[in-house]
Formats: sequence, C-alpha cells, structure tokens
Amino acid sequence: MGTINDLLNIEKKIKELKIKRNALILAHNYQLPEVQDIADFHGDSLELSRKAAKTDADIIVFCGVYFMAETASIISPDKKIIMPDINAGCPMANMIKASDVRKLKVKHPGAVAVGYVNTPAEVKAELDVCCTSTNAVAVVNALSEAKEIIFVPDKYLADYVSRKTGRKLISWNGFCPTHVKILPEDIKREKKFHPEAKVIAHPECLRSVLDLSDEVLSTSRMCKFAKETNAKEVIVATEVGMIYRLKKDNPTKEFYPASEAAVCPNMKRTTQEKILWALEEEKEEVRVSDEIRIRAKRAIDKMLEIL
Ligand code: 13P
Ligand code: SF4
Repeated sequence: MGTINDLLNIEKKIKELKIKRNALILAHNYQLPEVQDIADFHGDSLELSRKAAKTDADIIVFCGVYFMAETASIISPDKKIIMPDINAGCPMANMIKASDVRKLKVKHPGAVAVGYVNTPAEVKAELDVCCTSTNAVAVVNALSEAKEIIFVPDKYLADYVSRKTGRKLISWNGFCPTHVKILPEDIKREKKFHPEAKVIAHPECLRSVLDLSDEVLSTSRMCKFAKETNAKEVIVATEVGMIYRLKKDNPTKEFYPASEAAVCPNMKRTTQEKILWALEEEKEEVRVSDEIRIRAKRAIDKMLEIL
C-alpha cells in the first residue's frame, strides 16, 4: 500500500490514460474501496456486462472476477475487455466443467439446463438459459413447461430457488467458499448487538442463514433495499466489500457485516496500481473464441428475453 501522495498520483494517471484510451472502468460491488472510488460504474455481475455493451468506450477495464469479464466479452465481442489481474477467478464458477453439464443432460434427457452466470464460458455454451442472483427465481418460474430443470453450479442458490418456486431442481455440488463462511451464529450474534437492524443476505448463503434473514437479495438489490428501507441499521450477510458501497451511498444509515470472515480473496486482487498498468499496456485481454461465444450468448440472450 503506497502513501496518500502515491495514490493521488496513480488516480491522476489513471484518469488521464482513461481519456487517452477512451476506456471505461467497471467495478463489482465487492471490489476494494480504492477500486470502487476510481470506477466509472459499479454494479452486480450482469449490470456490469450490460454497461459494457451499452458504452461507446473502446476499452473496458473490468474490475471483478474472470467469469464477469468473459460475460462482458460474450455480449460485446467488438470491445476490448481487459482485467487488471487476470488471475482473479471465481472458485465457485470453476467447480463445474462443460463435460459435467453434458453428462447431466444425458442423464436427464429433455431437462432444461439453467446455469448461474458464475460459470465459465464453456459451461454457458452447454446451457439453455443463464440466470443471475437477481433473476434466478423469475427464470425458473418462466420454465413452467419444462418437465425437469437442471440448475448449476450453486447448490445453495438452487435450494433457495427451489423453495421460492416450488420446483424440484437437479442441482450440482458447487458453492461459494466465501458465502458459506457466514454462519447462523453470526446472524444471531449481530442481531443481539443490533436488535433493531434488518438482516439482508445473498442467496449464495447457507439455508440456515437465509432462514434468519428478512430479505434475500443480489448485490444490486441490496443497494436498492438500502436506499428504500426505513430501517436505520442493516446487518449484511455477503462479501464484506459490499459494506463500503452501502455506507457510501447511504451515509445516514449503519451497515454491519454479518461476518468479517466473508472475504473473497479474488475480488481483492485488483488494486489501483494494477488498473494503471492495465491501462498503460492494454492488457490482460479477455476474449472468448467465436465457437464458444456464439453458443454461450444464446443462453444469455434467452435469459434477457425472459426478463
Ligand atoms: P451479484 O450478481 O449478486 O453481484 O453476485 C455476484 C457474486 O459473485 C456473488 O458472490
Ligand atoms: Fe465467486 Fe463467491 Fe467470490 Fe462471488 S464471492 S466471486 S461467488 S467466490
């Protein structure tokens, strides 16, 4: 970590280079404060890809994890998508392979294959439709004609969606190593400290945590909830980076992380210094081969059609 002067210098250089290269900086809601502060736009995984598609910038600096940058590249193949740290992956996304989906489809012929956006592009290419944490329930509800539904890779999101829709889902044994660190004991303890607080949780959390929450929300819905709620205090069961964003947007309200242990190390790999290098060298570029991209895009387009 550099001094304040170093940081100010870096910020200045990033701003200059951004104009010179006609670049846009996108940051997921879990990114470090210094990254959120320099970004042009924040959002959840899908919002960021949509933003990438809409902008007329030539270069998108994607501050998030690999599957998010890949999704942006699938939606906008004409843009140059670069990641300040190409090694920022999502362990949950890497818990399933394309061959796993193919095997599930052979085992359940005729089933509709739904997959969370937290998957590699090769997996998306095998899916019928994608979903995000914001629209997973709506996507499954839209499949009323389907005899069977495969839902991968997050078993906790699948369990939540199954309970909300009343549909039995064929799930996979994937999970988010960060969200499973949040335990029901954490919620009970925080509720004792802050008895007036509302509890909001991400659907990647354990069922026992969701059962103690007032609302189950994606990160973009958490931002919306925080603005609209009358509650002055909110306990937040998701990755800790979310707290910075919520506090910044709602300075008169208090937000408490359900657990300080809920840190996604991959989301913390990106720094201002790496953003500057990425802009200077215009890399590392994330690009999906046309063969995979065209098939993966079908599943994303299908999702966008439903909503
Ligand atoms: P959101 O789409 O809700 O931002 O979630 C992305 C993610 O990686 C959650 O762990
Ligand atoms: Fe993946 Fe979990 Fe990190 Fe989100 S918080 S990027 S699901 S590991």
